[in-house]
Amino acid sequence: MRSVTATLAAPVSKARQAFLRDVLEGLQSQPKRLQSKYFYDAAGDALFQQIMHCPEYYLTRCEMEILETQSAAIVSAIRAVASQADLVELGAGDASKSIHLLREWMRAGIGNRYYPIDISGNIIRHLQDTLPEQIPGLDVQGLNGEYMEMLARSGQTPGRARVVMFMGSSIGNFTPEEAMGFLSEVRRQLRPGDFLLIGFDLQKNPRLILDAYNDRQGFTRDFNLNLLTRINRELDADFQRHHFLHYPTYDPSTGACKSFLVSLRDQAVHIGGSIIRFRKDEPIYMEISQKYTPDGIREMASSCGFAPVKNFTDDKNWFVDALWQAR
Ligand SMILES: C[S@@+](CC[C@H](N)C(=O)[O-])C[C@H]1O[C@@H](n2cnc3c(N)ncnc32)[C@H](O)[C@@H]1O
Repeated sequence: MRSVTATLAAPVSKARQAFLRDVLEGLQSQPKRLQSKYFYDAAGDALFQQIMHCPEYYLTRCEMEILETQSAAIVSAIRAVASQADLVELGAGDASKSIHLLREWMRAGIGNRYYPIDISGNIIRHLQDTLPEQIPGLDVQGLNGEYMEMLARSGQTPGRARVVMFMGSSIGNFTPEEAMGFLSEVRRQLRPGDFLLIGFDLQKNPRLILDAYNDRQGFTRDFNLNLLTRINRELDADFQRHHFLHYPTYDPSTGACKSFLVSLRDQAVHIGGSIIRFRKDEPIYMEISQKYTPDGIREMASSCGFAPVKNFTDDKNWFVDALWQAR
């Protein structure tokens, strides 16, 4: 991805206040935690690109295969029901996989409006700048902010269905209970007949899963530690990265893959005028990447007000892009 470092003219102090509040609240709770949505500053965006390309991180390759080879089938399943629709993508990232679906979308003539939503202003500017060049005629309406707030802002065009995409196993960054709450909220913002295309990583050999979050080149470690660097820079803090250990875990009985940063010593960190104390070996819970079973996915669709339409899987059956329709 081209490196994009410009920041949007967002109300920085308001964003900083929310960041500081979330960081302090998380580090003052027990167990300590940080929110993974803050991973994505410019350095975090670039590190995530490296993770996506490293050999252990199979998720991107599997979903890329699905979208390269089955986008036409996904679009025709939608077109069989909706002749005109708008596309909205939650957490679009660099859209390097969705671009295949966007091309088929334009070819099928269902519509030309695409609303990529992302909390990273760098990403939204990048998509606004590059996508219309890559797909002539595509009307890119980038929305920089939180998933749900921006989904509400994207609105519903009269006479047109909506297709919401939530790719890359981003749903895995919620616990199953949180995911149910989130998808029920997405459903409340849709009308019956609208679609959700959602990527789930499937449960598989636990070693493969753990390796994907512990790549040998250390990109995932740096991605986690980068949040400490971001807190230092933006919140006037003094974390010392080398005093924390990146520690990923996977529990095959629940499908929960969790990442922690573990304090390597007793230490005190100053953050925006507050002091946070860490015991030696105390963890900070950073992120969950929940893995699902096909049955679990089906049950989730119906509990959240959707009917499963079709599952699109890769050759190895490691990943699924599930197409659901709002009931
Ligand atoms: C793991 S990346 C996935 C990107 C892309 N969907 C893909 O499959 O490659 C998650 C993306 O979601 C964005 N994101 C994370 N939390 C968000 C939130 N709460 N609201 C909006 N965007 C968010 C991040 O900035 C990042 O670009």
